[in-house]
Amino acid sequence: MKIAVMGTGYVGLVSGVCLAAKGHDVTCFDVSQKIVDRVNGGCPHIYEKGLEPLLVSVLAEGRFRVTLASVEALHGCGIIIIAVGTPSVDGRIDLHQVESACLLIGCYLRHATQVCSVIVKSTVVPGTTDTAVRSWLEKESGRKVGDFGLGMNPEFLREGEAVMDFMEPDRIVLGCETEDTWRALQKLYAPWCCDKIRVNSRTAEMIKYANNAILATQISMVNELANIATAIGGIDIYEVMTGVHADKRWSPILPNGERIKPGILSYLLPGCGFGGSCFPKDIQALHTKARDMGVEPRLLSSVLDINNEQPRQVMNILRRAVGTLRGQHVLVLGLAFKQDTDDVRESPSREIINDLVNDDVDVKAHDPMAIATARRSWPELMVEYVDDWESQVEWADIVIVITRGTEYLKLQMPPLQSKLRGRTIFDARHIFSKTDFPGSNYLSIGSGPIGGCRAADK
Ligand SMILES: NC(=O)c1ccc[n+]([C@@H]2O[C@H](COP(=O)([O-])OP(=O)(O)OC[C@H]3O[C@@H](n4cnc5c(N)ncnc54)[C@H](O)[C@@H]3O)[C@@H](O)[C@H]2O)c1
Repeated sequence: MKIAVMGTGYVGLVSGVCLAAKGHDVTCFDVSQKIVDRVNGGCPHIYEKGLEPLLVSVLAEGRFRVTLASVEALHGCGIIIIAVGTPSVDGRIDLHQVESACLLIGCYLRHATQVCSVIVKSTVVPGTTDTAVRSWLEKESGRKVGDFGLGMNPEFLREGEAVMDFMEPDRIVLGCETEDTWRALQKLYAPWCCDKIRVNSRTAEMIKYANNAILATQISMVNELANIATAIGGIDIYEVMTGVHADKRWSPILPNGERIKPGILSYLLPGCGFGGSCFPKDIQALHTKARDMGVEPRLLSSVLDINNEQPRQVMNILRRAVGTLRGQHVLVLGLAFKQDTDDVRESPSREIINDLVNDDVDVKAHDPMAIATARRSWPELMVEYVDDWESQVEWADIVIVITRGTEYLKLQMPPLQSKLRGRTIFDARHIFSKTDFPGSNYLSIGSGPIGGCRAADK
């Protein structure tokens, strides 16, 4: 099938390359000449595991290209996928990019001679595709839905695992406003054999938000439990959660006695809060939409409040354990919102570094792939970025591990482990345990001395 993808970011580029790898003829569009040139040269402008070789192969096979957005380049497409950004502005999603994509598509549809379906893949609040998107397309094209297809196909890929998630999805949700759209989407996803869930576009939009809201709620729930455990003292929340995970409703036991450890358990661990381009923005957007509809979203309010406060826990625990931080040397490991990505949007690392700098701390920071994006995105932060973090361990009084990057596991092995003796290590993602660092002051979220700390101590 001939496919156009509007937007060549994390979702657009990965979707376009993977669709091409499955045999479709794909053109991705963007408004940035820099992105067009880089990607056509076989060099993705974002980091995503496995993306570059796949891009190089689909470019070489002539089944993939990127171009500046233009009506002419849409000619002959059976499906146009909208994968532009929907950033958060004052708690609502900003639909400007979606609108401008729709105006271009509408222009094309006005004179299109071939049947074409427009599919929204960007995350948009329920009721966007069948109202705003529909009206922009109908107005600009002078045609009605039915003359062209309209649908919503939410994307569930996770940054860091995006290629694998797209190639081997757990489900594909197909929100269809017309029968033609359903037929076109079946053809598009024919090479995939997972569950395909047919719903209307509003339900498809809501599935995406419900999915993220439930995951974010789990994270904030465990973080709240961790904070309670810290306050009580003498409890290690990691041990608590190991006990909870053993409930057979979380990790079912097979007849041979083995346990299934579902991926969902990784959302049931304490940490310094969720970040990234999706969870904070999506939960906030659903929260605002609920209020617009007259529903007070009390649980979502708490999920957001807990998450906004969670990076502060790192400072609270550090101050209690170390005393004054002024003048100390701190090495921060991990800038992206999670491992294996260069995306620093809404990363808790920013809040933590900012709090440290405000306490007159001397901060150096490392990330395996996000230093360039951090430099660009946080120009105001007074931090020195270092490429060789291992040589900085001796410089540091305190090492804070904020993402799970596998290279940081070296900290628990010689020679770094012995260099950490007498120093403080803050394990903000619980990737180590206290016994990994003999002679060090090991700190984490959700464990504290017997006696704990009363709210007044914070
Ligand atoms: N990043 C994720 O992990 C993820 C996962 C699932 C869903 N989503 C959703 O997918 C959408 C895209 O997210 P993203 O992370 O890829 O965003 P992004 O910001 O990385 O990419 C958006 C791209 O669209 C381009 N663009 C803007 N206006 C355009 C236009 N009129 N025509 C063509 N291109 C245009 C931008 O230049 C940019 O390259 C968002 O709605 C997001 O919420 C993201």
